[in-house]
Amino acid sequence: MDKVTLPSFQEKKKRGEKITMLTAYDLPFARLIDEAGVDAVLVGDSLGMVALGYPTTVPVTMEEMIHHAKAVRRGVSRALLVGDMPFMSFNLSVKETVRNASRFLKEAGCDAVKVEGGQGSLDSLEAVQAILDAGIPVLGHLGLTPQTAGKTGGFRVQAKTAPAARKLLAAAEELESSGCFGIVLECVPSQVADLITRSVSIPTIGIGAGNRCDGQVLVTHDLLNLSGPFHPKFARAFARLDAAALKAVKGFRKAVEERSFPSREESYEMPPDEWERLRRSA
Ligand code: KIV
Repeated sequence: MDKVTLPSFQEKKKRGEKITMLTAYDLPFARLIDEAGVDAVLVGDSLGMVALGYPTTVPVTMEEMIHHAKAVRRGVSRALLVGDMPFMSFNLSVKETVRNASRFLKEAGCDAVKVEGGQGSLDSLEAVQAILDAGIPVLGHLGLTPQTAGKTGGFRVQAKTAPAARKLLAAAEELESSGCFGIVLECVPSQVADLITRSVSIPTIGIGAGNRCDGQVLVTHDLLNLSGPFHPKFARAFARLDAAALKAVKGFRKAVEERSFPSREESYEMPPDEWERLRRSA
């Protein structure tokens, strides 16, 4: 399979082929996702909730994102690699924004960054423009934007009214005109996602946005049932690795406690003559 590039992302939309994207935060999952032929890997700031145990994505720092993005880079050779700009990494000044975005490319080897927001949020649009002007590809993110969920009414479906849907469409068109190569649409009604998908020429990647987007993204730990008890209805579990992992860990504990692990085959032995020498000299 050929390496995924920004143009190939766009070509998929033109050909009507679905685009796939999954999150990764470490080497083993990055390798699996790349090997499975998924088009893009997102080092999402969901890292904070999924892997670091924070209650929201707000505490995630640039250092944490870069640390994990570097590990993911080592496992991805084909997919497009996108780093997620964490909360307040693109809101303080243009200089700071561009410096942070460039770290994803220079230090972690990402191909692009993702920036949340844009709906009437001058900050995000300015940030997107500054990053693009610096020559760094940007994936926009509209609808439910977890970093500012407090401001937009919490973790709930966005753009449910006609005026809100029109505003979202305008924001998507603005991101398209600014030069973003795609837009993540999170938790919006499928009709609104469909309207936006048909109105912009860049790919839309949905999560909780119905199946008429140009592609779909999921948090990998959700699709493997590894994210704990909260399951939004769009997060289908394609496997139950939590149960498989629990069984394995319990199996280890039991085998150690009943002395069946490690077996002789799983242990190293001294050559018999050396053991004899040691025993005699002891
Ligand atoms: O951080 C993340 O994982 C995301 C996806 C849910 C799109 O932003």
